[in-house]
Amino acid sequence: MYQDWEELENGIQNCQKCKLCERRQHIVLGEGNKEAKLMFIGEGPGADEDAQGIPFVGKAGKLMNKAFQGLGIDRSTIYITNIVKCRPPANRVPEEEEAVACLDYLRSQVMLVKPNIIVLLGSTALKNILGKEYGITACRGNWIEQKGIWYMPTWHPAALLRDENKKVEFWKDLKEVTKKYQELN
Ligand code: URA
Repeated sequence: MYQDWEELENGIQNCQKCKLCERRQHIVLGEGNKEAKLMFIGEGPGADEDAQGIPFVGKAGKLMNKAFQGLGIDRSTIYITNIVKCRPPANRVPEEEEAVACLDYLRSQVMLVKPNIIVLLGSTALKNILGKEYGITACRGNWIEQKGIWYMPTWHPAALLRDENKKVEFWKDLKEVTKKYQELN
């Protein structure tokens, strides 16, 4: 674990813990308020994120921004990151060993930001954070509280691009999140 941001940012700089380092343009550590009470965790950078070094700036991110705007969530007040910090080739799901190699960075981010709400965007985030026994279809929309953190699993924004119904559910889940945020903070 990294005890402060400087240690974390220096520690990840030349990371070669897994093979995703071989093709990356940028490490995408995370973006936003380092004291956010609300954190979003996705899967891994895509092509746009790899090119810019910022999470959720591509198509899925733009869709997520629209939902944020509609719900009054200001992106500069939250913190956004991913399970893996380097782009998996062809946007495939990160392999177990890649996710495990990267987990220390994410754990450190959660420890340093200290959110009380974490939105888990899709199956990869859900399974790597809460455990392989959790399934996104059954869990989405339901709060799971662990060690003082409220987790809301929901669809990954990329899934919304393919399915209109999921858009409605995603919106509903984020509405729950804003409600909880007002209750807790
Ligand atoms: N999809 C993700 O899971 N994360 C990003 O940063 C972009 C797309």
